[in-house]
Amino acid sequence: MYHLIIDCDPGHDDIIASMVAMAHPETFDILGFTTVAGNQTLEKVTNNLLRVQTLLETDYPVSMGYDAPIIKALEVQPKAHGESGLDGPILPEAKRTVTGLHAIEFMKETLENSSEKVTFLCIGPLTNMALFLKTYPHLKEKIQAIAIMGGAVNGGNIQLKSEFNIYHDPEAAKIVFGSGAKVIMAGLEVCYAGSILLSEAEEANGRGRASQLFYDLMKFYGRYAVDRGWDRTAIFDMTPLIYLLRPELFETKEYEVHVELNGEYTRGMTVVDLAKTEDLIHPATVLWDVKREEFIQTLFEALDILDKRYQ
Ligand code: RIB
Ligand code: CA
Repeated sequence: MYHLIIDCDPGHDDIIASMVAMAHPETFDILGFTTVAGNQTLEKVTNNLLRVQTLLETDYPVSMGYDAPIIKALEVQPKAHGESGLDGPILPEAKRTVTGLHAIEFMKETLENSSEKVTFLCIGPLTNMALFLKTYPHLKEKIQAIAIMGGAVNGGNIQLKSEFNIYHDPEAAKIVFGSGAKVIMAGLEVCYAGSILLSEAEEANGRGRASQLFYDLMKFYGRYAVDRGWDRTAIFDMTPLIYLLRPELFETKEYEVHVELNGEYTRGMTVVDLAKTEDLIHPATVLWDVKREEFIQTLFEALDILDKRYQ
């Protein structure tokens, strides 16, 4: 059982990852969500999560975090996620509201009150996670793992060598990777390896409330691939979540991961030290590869479980 806090910037793939977690209460005791500015402003990503919870009739606590990176200016991503941050589905107005606690205060209270260690799923910029670790360092011992979607072994999706979540707040990422907490890194390469075929996503149409939300999300989110003539697209944020659920689908390696802060072309790059295999200091568990078919099957099984809740 993972006692889980999901730190996110919804974001289409953030919502899909969260739905997979919601479908498996036998594995994930979701303690709450914290939101962070990234794909869109803090207000927009928070409202998106509240509206999705209204649609899915869930009521997990939601606490708002930081509205900007530690040093960098906020750079939202309307191209990928739209002006709302969750363009595509028609969502009800939110009938839920936030806790009123700041995200790091929610994290603090949750860890202090939990008799078990807590796992973080961090699928947006790492601003909240980093500043929680800096503000309450004594609570690091209550952290089981920090599973992140971020970085890359070699690539980039926002800059030549930088992935969006890390690029958006490199200082925060450096704090998290260097914290000594157990970090699980789902970088771009493993996310691409688990890409969904656009034809597979089509199968979700009309199957049920959760599947329909997924289908409507993918209709907008998949445009990026359609416009480029690709037959598939990566649902980035569900990768670390499905690793927690089904680790046997993945190949992993242990490496030290450093974050570049100063390069003119490489600020926000994760430097995975492939040359160092001994005497590692704060190594991360780097997800290296995944069995694509079973990975995607896990997604559809989760959607089926959720659909049955609304029948
Ligand atoms: O690079 C992919 C990441 O950036 C995902 O978390 C997506 O939601 C965006 O935030
Ligand atoms: Ca995200």
